[in-house]
Amino acid sequence: MSHIHLSRVNRGWVIRCHDHVTPAEFADTITTIRAAGGGNVRWFVCEPTNDERACAAHHGLQADAPLLHMRCALPLNTTHQLPAGFVTRPFRAGVDNQAWLAVNARAFAAHPEQGNWTNDVLIERLAEPWFDPQGFLIHETDGHMTGFCWTQMHDHSAEHDHADAHDDLATHDHHGSAPVGEIYVVGVDPSHHGKGLGRALTIAGFAYLAARGLQHGMLYVAGNNTAAITLYESLGMTVAHSDDVFIGTIS
Ligand SMILES: CC(C)(COP(=O)(O)OP(=O)(O)OC[C@H]1O[C@@H](n2cnc3c(N)ncnc32)[C@H](O)[C@@H]1OP(=O)(O)O)[C@@H](O)C(=O)NCCC(=O)NCCS
Repeated sequence: MSHIHLSRVNRGWVIRCHDHVTPAEFADTITTIRAAGGGNVRWFVCEPTNDERACAAHHGLQADAPLLHMRCALPLNTTHQLPAGFVTRPFRAGVDNQAWLAVNARAFAAHPEQGNWTNDVLIERLAEPWFDPQGFLIHETDGHMTGFCWTQMHDHSAEHDHADAHDDLATHDHHGSAPVGEIYVVGVDPSHHGKGLGRALTIAGFAYLAARGLQHGMLYVAGNNTAAITLYESLGMTVAHSDDVFIGTIS
């Protein structure tokens, strides 16, 4: 079952396959998860077969919103400019953790896999070799963090130790050997939604990546996240790929 890639993400599991899987292969993977203590599972499948859908159901996994992989050329079209006076600053590890966790939890209250990050998970991410505080943009309003845009650069010429599903997925974003700039996560405190902060932060994130010479931008977004998808499309992003997602708990 070498084409099944099982990884731990935060406290759960992510299953990805480089080809379609048989019921026996999938059952082996579930057995492995169960033997390691079980937990929440997300299975990303490109164009699942009827057998794969049946496998998911057999093991108690339900269909979730698909995961869209969106792309754009960098820099963004020059019509997408930052509003006058909009500023960000780099994330300060150890200083900003609690404020960021609070904004992240509020912004992603409807998306527990992102909204329930703990300080331990954040510290792990901040220690990743790819982490660049300059590319983790923080916006403040009256001295309080109200939004953020965390970018990540993927250099395909280097080997990565894939820390999470995003890393794993992004290495399948082929532009030859060209490095790709990802908006890893962007969020705005709900009390400040609809004021243009999300647009400004996304523009700022892609501008940061473009300033580092990257010509390809990308991100992943849940297919039911209308606000985010509308924003990204308005910036010229298009859907390059979609994976079906099955989720559940293995115990
Ligand atoms: C997506 C998000 C960052 C947008 O932030 P925001 O500050 O509210 O957005 P803006 O005010 O800058 O709006 C930018 C555009 O987004 C779109 N948009 C925002 N809210 C929308 C909504 N409720 N429905 C549809 N489109 C919406 C519009 O295209 C809007 O442009 P317009 O104002 O010219 O119509 C914010 O909703 C958020 O933090 N969501 C939770 C976290 C999240 O889902 N992040 C993205 C994960 S990939």
